Parts: sequence; structure tokens; C-alpha cells
Amino acid sequence: MKLRNRFVKAATFEGLGNGREVPDDLIDFHRAVADGGVGLTTLAFCAVSEDGRGAPKELVVGPDAAPGLRRFTEAIRAAGAEAAIQLGHAGPVGAAAGRQAGLAPSRVFAPQAVRFTRAATEADLERIVGDFAVAAGIAADTGFSVIELHFGHGYLVSSFLSPKLNRRDDGWGGSIENRARLAREVAQAVRDQVGTSVAVTAKLNMADGVDGGLWLAESVEAARLLEADGTLDALELTGGSSFENPMYLFRGEAPVAEMAAMFPPPLRLGLKLTAKRFMPSYPFEEAYFLAYARQFRAALSMPLMLLGGINRLDTVHQALADGFQFVAMGRALLREPDIVNRWQTEAGYEGLCVHCNKCMPTIYRGTHCVLVPPEARP
Ligand SMILES: Cc1cc2nc3c(=O)[nH]c(=O)nc-3n(C[C@H](O)[C@H](O)[C@H](O)COP(=O)(O)O)c2cc1C
Ligand code: SF4
Repeated sequence: MKLRNRFVKAATFEGLGNGREVPDDLIDFHRAVADGGVGLTTLAFCAVSEDGRGAPKELVVGPDAAPGLRRFTEAIRAAGAEAAIQLGHAGPVGAAAGRQAGLAPSRVFAPQAVRFTRAATEADLERIVGDFAVAAGIAADTGFSVIELHFGHGYLVSSFLSPKLNRRDDGWGGSIENRARLAREVAQAVRDQVGTSVAVTAKLNMADGVDGGLWLAESVEAARLLEADGTLDALELTGGSSFENPMYLFRGEAPVAEMAAMFPPPLRLGLKLTAKRFMPSYPFEEAYFLAYARQFRAALSMPLMLLGGINRLDTVHQALADGFQFVAMGRALLREPDIVNRWQTEAGYEGLCVHCNKCMPTIYRGTHCVLVPPEARP
């Protein structure tokens, strides 16, 4: 598989459709990014099973979705780019969103939703590993060039990696080898399913951004294990947790009022009351994950994608000089889907995203940058 360049549109959940099929506006959303010059665009979070959904409208990858997924990949390829699909299981994030029991390694309290998560059984884990393989098979059959496995942000696989959320004393908990077992089994099952016909990557947390959570010393070790397995073609490096500390993922302002407005009254109040603790904001810096990602670059030889706060072409050149093979961008491309084309003629151009994060709550009604007027949206 060959990409026309090293720019990847990172998954930003689109909030379109009915959760079963791929609507035309979802294709239009990604066609705009493909027309805008990226090499690869990522269809955002798709659940591998019903209980793996974390937010309304998330597509469950099943037979109903296949014709639309095929139309999606054909449209993106016609625009000169390749298509990736992000596959995952929301795990405890499902509980935080108040939607599901919230499968997790251990039973823990989800304060935002005022409920407990449910500890996964052996049977749950066996089923979910199989669900990843089935969904990956559908993705490969419908023309995706890249399958991105979601191993970050407090979703199920990420919660198993976390020493804070994973309190198990069986073969899935304790040492980092045991906590990385679910990630490794999922990657292996997916690779066995799709062979070498498509690239398989994973979005992996470097740090959860909470006391007692996953951090570099162990996340680098987990990455080393994945590299040694030889199941993955690249890692996209991320951090933070939609379950425990979402702003660590994004940096910049916490859009608490806008977020609260999206929930029904009891949850709205809960979010406002817990926001100071649950959504602390962090100052935004260009390429804010670079220092952490360099630790992975030093420890691994496999291809790596740098992600997090990339808005300038000189940052991209620096990333390539530091040995990263790809750069992934989320908000810069929500703000300006054509920024890659623009950089072809205006190398010094700095993206217009102001890191206000007000696009976050728009995932509930069609994801967009609030600074892009409706008539200019795809
Ligand atoms: C509106 C929105 C939705 C997002 N949805 C997802 C998602 O579905 N899956 C995921 O892994 N990350 C998601 N992210 C996180 C981005 O992929 C990325 O990790 C983050 O925005 C940092 O990159 P950036 O600074 O280039 O935006 C989302 C981000 C935004 C702003
Ligand atoms: S709403 Fe627009 S400007 Fe604000 S963070 Fe999102 S993409 Fe950037």
C-alpha cells in the first residue's frame, strides 16, 4: 500500500448516521479531507460490537454497514487518498457516556455517570477478540487500506493497560505483560484475519494523564511487546482518557458549558459538578506529545505516527527529521480540511485552529469546527 504523502487525518468521531449504515454526509466529510490533500483519512470510532459503543450514532461494524463502507472507500480512493477505519470497544467509556454497562477490567466507579463499570469475564474477552477479527474482515473486504485498532483514551484495551483501572489478579492483570495481553491478542487475531492484504496499526496511549495510570515506563514496554509480535505496521502515539481525563488528549480550553448542554439534566448537572476534577484544562503547545513520542522513537524501530497539536509545516519537517514516518492531525483538518494542499504553495502558513475544543461537543449532532460557517462545511 502506497500513500501519496505522510499526512494522516486522525479519527475525529463524525456524529453522523444511525449507527448501522454509512450515510452520504459521512462520505462527504472525508471526501473534503481527501480533496484537501491528505494521504490517508480515518473513519472514526467504529465499534466491533453493540456493547462496544461509547457515544450515540457510533457505527457497529456488521453486514448492514458493508455496502456503505464500500462506497466510502471507493469515494476516498477516487479523490486520491486511502481510507483507514478505526475499530474499537469503548469499554468503560460506554459507562461514562451513560449508555452501556461499561465493560472494564475491574469494577470501578464512573462518577460522571454515577454508576459502576462491569468487570469483563474470560468469555467477554474471548468474544471481543473475535469481534475485532470479524470487524477487521469486513473492513478489509470493503476496501480499507488501513485498520487502526483503538488501544488508547481509556477505551477497553487501554483500560486493561492501565495499572489504575486494571486491578485483576488473573492472567489479564498485574504485570505489564499481562495487562498488554488483550492488546496483543486483538492485534494477532486481526492480523490472522486479514493477512498482509491491509496495513494494521494501533492508536496507543503513551500516558493516561492520571495519577496511577499508564505512563511512559510501561507504555514503551507494551509497545516493545507489540513490536516483537510483528502484528502491527505502525503505532499512532496518543495519551489521555475519555473516561478519566479527556483534556489531556487535546490540551487547550475545556468546553464544559458546551459539553454539559449536550446531556439531559441529571447528567448535565453531574458533568458541571465534576468538571473541575474530570476536565482540568492544560496549556496548548504545538506538537505537545513530541517529547513523549521521542521516547518511543528511541526504543522502537517500527514506523510511528506523531499526533497532537500539529498546525505548522515546520513541525511536520521536524517530526520527519526526528524519525517519525507519518504525522496525524485532527483539529487542524476540522478547521481547514485543505491545509495540506495549502502548504504545497505556502509553506509558512500556520493553521487557523485556536484549540478552543468547542468541536468536541459537536460529536452529538454532526462534528464540525464551530469557526467554519455552515455554508462552508462539507
Ligand atoms: C471532535 C473530535 C472527535 C474525536 N474523535 C476521536 C475518535 O473517534 N477516536 C479517536 O481515537 N480520537 C478522537 N479524537 C482525538 C483525535 O484523534 C486526536 O487524538 C486529538 O484531537 C489530538 O490531535 P489534534 O491536536 O491534531 O487535534 C477526536 C478529537 C476531536 C476534536
Ligand atoms: S472548534 Fe475549530 S478552532 Fe476550536 S478546536 Fe475545534 S477545530 Fe479548532
